[in-house]
Amino acid sequence: MSELLIHDLAEVATPKGTSHRRGAAQGAVERLNGVDVVCRGGRIVFVGSPEERRRQLGELPGVPRLDGSGRCLVPGFVDCHTHLPWAGTREHEFSDRLAGKTYQEIAAAGGGILSTVRSTRAASEDELVANTRARLARMLEWGTTTAEVKSGYGLELEAELKQLRAARRAAADQPVEVVTTLLAAHEFPPEHRADAAAREAWVREICERITPAAAEHGLATFCDVFCERGVFEVDQARRVLEAGRRHGLVPRLHADEFADSGGAELAAELGAASADHVLAVSEAGVEAMARAGVAAVLLPGVSFFLRKPHYAPARRFVEAGVPVVLATDCNPGSSHTESLPMILWLGIFRLGLSIEESLTAVTLNAASVLGQGRRLGSLEVGKDADAVLLDGPNLDHLGYHFGVNPVVAVVKAGSVVHRRP
Ligand code: NIG
Ligand code: FE
Repeated sequence: MSELLIHDLAEVATPKGTSHRRGAAQGAVERLNGVDVVCRGGRIVFVGSPEERRRQLGELPGVPRLDGSGRCLVPGFVDCHTHLPWAGTREHEFSDRLAGKTYQEIAAAGGGILSTVRSTRAASEDELVANTRARLARMLEWGTTTAEVKSGYGLELEAELKQLRAARRAAADQPVEVVTTLLAAHEFPPEHRADAAAREAWVREICERITPAAAEHGLATFCDVFCERGVFEVDQARRVLEAGRRHGLVPRLHADEFADSGGAELAAELGAASADHVLAVSEAGVEAMARAGVAAVLLPGVSFFLRKPHYAPARRFVEAGVPVVLATDCNPGSSHTESLPMILWLGIFRLGLSIEESLTAVTLNAASVLGQGRRLGSLEVGKDADAVLLDGPNLDHLGYHFGVNPVVAVVKAGSVVHRRP
């Protein structure tokens, strides 16, 4: 059975528990000094002083070691919202935005999501596998040990399944654990934009053909929809997510990104695993999410990358008792980054979260959105041994030293899978 001893750590910083931490508990991070961590069979079997470790487990001769070198160990980061399997780039749109055009103007002119749909449809499955694998490798370098990956750039049956298969294949033989989401309801494809009847036909195609096919082939765990005025209206989003649920897919939503569209309330009504973006959420939406226990997945990379002054009301969510999560939204149009530390810095510098709240947001709370809070998201005996060794003697350095990669080593399921060169 594989074993690993992580020793000479200055600090182990971790949220604790098996599900979302909310309200004041979001910032309740345990910080232990001078402890060893022992992993066996992929799990954490010991966290405690070296003396106690020697008493319980002995010297552990021959067991592989990771020298903590006076640094800080945190749980492996969980990126619970990404769009990885795409082809093509959109740097020309990025330049147009720098010149003053808005994201919506670019989309209305045929760019935006539909531009990536064209290049993703044209790409082979192998090409999508290679692109996704390269992005997962970059995520790992920045500390991500588990990632959710969405379809949504195929927007036709075969192309959506191609994206999901590519995500699953890219996950094989590399360390980052991948969870997949069907997002056929990301946009209305070119063939279904002419009028209300054409749009209705696309909603039916998703509910009656694409969702059952994705489920039947076991290609997705979650279903998702872009619920926004002018895209999927609330009643269409509800039908898409109910169809998903009938086929065993857990609902999530892109909700209230540009305008309050009732998406947060729909997430609450359906008991969705999360409502994501929620930048323009109403007060009623926040309260409904709090009552229903729906997590808010905040994606501040989007405001940053689109150069918008507004960010999601993170402090209001914490105050209302809504579990707050941070994710990259890694995609070619609105947030082109694989780096969760970058998003964590935005959480601190733009959303007003504390370093502890931000850590919980990218670990235990993100794992809980993916339904994996019992197994992932904290450094506790019994959990999977997923951990990141950070440069710096304590958690504070993760916020304090920004803009540089803080990751010295990454452990997945008890094995060292990345070391800083
Ligand atoms: O989550 N909101 C919609 N979808 C993506 C953007 C995708 C794109 O621009 O390609 C998002 O931000
Ligand atoms: Fe997204």
